[in-house]
Amino acid sequence: MSDKEIKSLEAIFEARIARDEKIEPKDWMPEKYRKTHIRQISQHAHSEIVGMLPEGNWISRAPSLRRKAALLAKVQDEAGHGLYLYAACETLGVSRDELYDQLHSGKAKYSSIFNYPTVTWADMGAIGWLVDGAAIINQVPLCNTSFGPYARAMVRVCKEESFHQRQGFEIMLKLCNGTPEQKEMAQDALNRWWWPSLMMLGPTDAESIHTEQSMKWKLKRKTNDELRQQFIDQTVPQADLLGITVPDPDLKWNEETGHYDFGEINWDEFWQVVKGHGPCNKKRMKDRVNAWENGAWVRDAAMAYAEKNEKRKLKEAI
Ligand SMILES: [Fe+2]
Ligand SMILES: [Fe+2]
Repeated sequence: MSDKEIKSLEAIFEARIARDEKIEPKDWMPEKYRKTHIRQISQHAHSEIVGMLPEGNWISRAPSLRRKAALLAKVQDEAGHGLYLYAACETLGVSRDELYDQLHSGKAKYSSIFNYPTVTWADMGAIGWLVDGAAIINQVPLCNTSFGPYARAMVRVCKEESFHQRQGFEIMLKLCNGTPEQKEMAQDALNRWWWPSLMMLGPTDAESIHTEQSMKWKLKRKTNDELRQQFIDQTVPQADLLGITVPDPDLKWNEETGHYDFGEINWDEFWQVVKGHGPCNKKRMKDRVNAWENGAWVRDAAMAYAEKNEKRKLKEAI
């Protein structure tokens, strides 16, 4: 294709984005748009899958049958989210094997938050309330993103995330209305998960190298700082309702702006975790790779069964 032809295709593409039309897998798209989407959607898929690990660890230790059933359903939902997103990513011409390989070799990134340990049952509450809460804030605008398969996957994902957030908040509410020790556990979990949850919404706008282009393509509809402020404004009144304290001495309602002011985020910690030096990076990857390797026989059996079925159908057709 000549440069002139590419330019005119680009102009048509940009006009479609401007009209808020969805871009579908078979439509022409700039190579950079395709690559950026593969990166973002696969990072999102990896986060869903790795995100199962810190909570899966607590399924066998849930304090009641009801809690166990809810947590099990939640973790299973995350597997489903990973699968829709891998499927959406594959429509851009990358294979599932390639994506898994990027994750397992440590080449691909996933959300920094899942590299923190889950040390008490209250962490299940804090994760649902804060981590899934931040995920909803991040993902609701993505229901309107320009790439069709990603936008459609997000609609269902967001509905399920809202159940995750509620089950987490309910755990917190129960603990906060329980014994002093239980309330102490809830406070401790908030202390540990608050700052990593703020970091989870990504680096500040000034530091975020992808934000500008992603906003232009309507891959992102709000900047990281906007999303973070929204999360804080929404979550602080919930902490007040629980009767526990957000671990930020600088947190203060600002009458003038109509938002909460908040303290400095420790970005050094964020970058350390992103670079692989968080408390659980190595363990998460080891567990993930082990799960993949130990599951090889299931995949082989499923393939053998599908082949056998295919042969039988062929025989019957003859
Ligand atoms: Fe999810
Ligand atoms: Fe979730």
